[in-house]
Amino acid sequence: MKLPRSFYNYISYLGTIIAFIAWITLIFFIAQIYVFRIENVYFDLYTFIVTPAFLVLGHVLIPLGMYLKRKKLKKGIQVSDEKLFVLNLRDSRTRNAIMIFSVVTVFFVISTVVGSYKAFHYTESIEFCGKLCHKVMMPEYIAYQNSPHARVTCAECHVGEGADFYVKSKMSGMRQVWKYNLGTYPRPIPTPIENLRPARETCEKCHWPQKFYTNALRKEKYFLADSANTEWNILLNMKIGSSHQSLGLSGGIHWHINPDVQIDYKANNKRDTIYWVRIKDKKTGTETIYKDDELVAKPELAAKMEERGMDCMDCHNRPSHEFRSPSKYVNELMAGQNKIAAIPWFKSAAMEALKLPYNTTDSAKTEIKNKIVAFYQEKYPDLYKKSNKEILLAINDVEDEYFKNAFPEMKVNYSAYPRHIGHLETNGCFRCHNNKFKSPSGKVISKDCNLCHTIVAQGKSDSIKYVGINGTMTFVHPIDIGDAWKETNCMECHNKLYQ
Ligand code: HEC
Ligand code: HEC
Ligand code: HEC
Ligand code: HEC
Ligand code: HEC
Ligand code: HEC
Repeated sequence: MKLPRSFYNYISYLGTIIAFIAWITLIFFIAQIYVFRIENVYFDLYTFIVTPAFLVLGHVLIPLGMYLKRKKLKKGIQVSDEKLFVLNLRDSRTRNAIMIFSVVTVFFVISTVVGSYKAFHYTESIEFCGKLCHKVMMPEYIAYQNSPHARVTCAECHVGEGADFYVKSKMSGMRQVWKYNLGTYPRPIPTPIENLRPARETCEKCHWPQKFYTNALRKEKYFLADSANTEWNILLNMKIGSSHQSLGLSGGIHWHINPDVQIDYKANNKRDTIYWVRIKDKKTGTETIYKDDELVAKPELAAKMEERGMDCMDCHNRPSHEFRSPSKYVNELMAGQNKIAAIPWFKSAAMEALKLPYNTTDSAKTEIKNKIVAFYQEKYPDLYKKSNKEILLAINDVEDEYFKNAFPEMKVNYSAYPRHIGHLETNGCFRCHNNKFKSPSGKVISKDCNLCHTIVAQGKSDSIKYVGINGTMTFVHPIDIGDAWKETNCMECHNKLYQ
């Protein structure tokens, strides 16, 4: 079987070899996946992305080589008797070439279509996003699996629908793969993500603003750092929506996403300090600007700050990757296991051990244990003798929680990725609601403790005080700090408590 003369050149040879090897490899991989049912992200990567890329390369090189050779022939570098552009179907060489070319092309086109469809699905899969570059995405992937969105794919929030965002995100993905291989990616990954798709096009596919949000009861349990790990309870009635369904989004926390108003603000890069807020009433067209006169951005920052329209992500910035603070996860651990809450001084010992940032997972594992054990051996040796079994078991649980919420190698923890809902350990809502942002008419963005929630119950477990669901009571701080909680933002003390 003979092929056209132009085929005989090194570029086309190379193309043929690459395409041939790629075909064999592809058939091998496909057999592994479909015949032997092997489920492995690396197999998928090679089958649907790497091998097809080589296949395309091979199939491009063959005609390229032929084209170049023809050009040379034409220039007369070698005068030939060949009828370059005449198709002589009587010539068996041409017939063979056309046949081979058509069969291969049909096969090629079909497999490219199927392949790119598979590749599309594959690159949108949770495995692709979360597992493939495990070192980098591990923190987000683990937090995601423990979140209310564990059944929503990464792409539903990060990519959304449409070819434009698909291409955009894959282009930026290519750059990241490059950085990943060079090891030059930032740790932690910077946030907020600048070109995250707007909430309108992602969150609102599943949670639309017009939907009625009822109020919700939120029960919190805390354990103080004293000998009895004294339990303290608060029950909050969160005013997520307005007081009645028929009022729509006219009031309450989700008033901010009422389609009739537009809130814009200017903040620093991390969006943890807000400098300027504007409300636009879309019905009447009136605008109100709120500013905090004591808070002035440095000129270089002021020049850079852009207006950002407030959306879901300005409060729900950790919908699926929440990294909780040690005080939060230790409280939850103790609330869930009476055995741990019964070990005297355990809250205090755990918080002491979780204070320091650790540089590696291994050092965290040994140090957390050593610190808690040392705490008891030095201060309460008798207690340690008596209950070391319970203490060691509790340490295992603390470490498990630590590894769900802190990732030393990626420098990921709650303070690297603050959560903007609430106001205890980060400023969250108090970034705006601090009684300091004033409008020209003197109105402030309120910090009134009953604006966003009412306290329905609070106190030690043996002496909880309750009011009716529509009543409210004044906040009592679990330990006596006078009026400091009224004057100072909670975060001013609370983000330093255990550091
Ligand atoms: C419910 C929506 C949602 C889902 C599902 C989701 N993410 Fe996110 N992701 C977000 C939001 C919102 C942010 C924070 C954006 C910001 O602060 O700018 C974020 C941030 C990130 C970041 C930046 C680092 C950080 O923690 O801020 C990475 C990396 C990331 N996500 C990876 C993933 C991976 C991998 C998956 C799937 C395993 C996933 N995400 C699933 C909404 C989501
Ligand atoms: C593909 C659908 C989908 C998308 C997209 C989505 N969510 Fe959700 N969301 C859910 C489901 C399902 C739940 C769980 C409901 C439940 O447990 O009752 C949920 C729960 C929540 C909750 C309640 C969490 C809790 O603790 O109970 C919040 C808040 C939330 N989503 C915010 C967001 C935000 C913000 C985004 C955009 C970044 C988003 N969601 C995108 C489907 C989605
Ligand atoms: C970017 C600034 C900003 C942030 C951040 C912010 N708010 Fe607001 N909020 C406002 C403004 C402005 C108003 C309207 C003030 C006014 O006109 O009285 C408001 C009003 C409210 C109201 C009263 C709505 C009504 O009329 O019934 C509630 C409740 C509320 N916010 C809750 C919250 C909660 C909860 C958070 C944090 C999760 C939060 N806000 C974060 C700017 C903000
Ligand atoms: C001003 C801040 C703010 C904005 C903006 C905001 N939310 Fe919320 N959202 C909250 C707070 C606060 C809660 C109650 C959380 C809690 O109890 O801890 C909440 C609760 C929810 C819940 C759970 C409701 C339930 O019944 O438990 C969902 C779902 C939700 N928000 C979705 C959204 C979506 C979608 C958007 C954007 C369209 C959005 N939110 C915008 C502050 C906000
Ligand atoms: C602008 C809205 C807003 C205002 C004003 C506000 N809170 Fe809150 N508060 C919240 C939200 C939202 C949460 C829920 C946090 C979460 O979901 O983790 C919260 C949580 C709390 C909690 C539980 C703490 C935790 O995170 O475990 C306490 C206690 C509390 N608030 C007390 C107060 C007191 C006291 C005041 C008055 C000085 C106040 N709040 C003013 C929005 C507000
Ligand atoms: C002057 C400093 C200070 C301020 C301001 C402050 N706190 Fe505290 N808070 C403390 C200290 C100290 C503790 C005791 C910690 C312990 O024993 O574990 C504490 C404990 C708590 C606890 C129990 C926490 C736990 O995890 O055990 C809650 C809840 C709490 N504070 C809520 C608030 C709220 C809400 C605000 C703001 C309205 C606030 N605090 C403002 C100093 C402060």
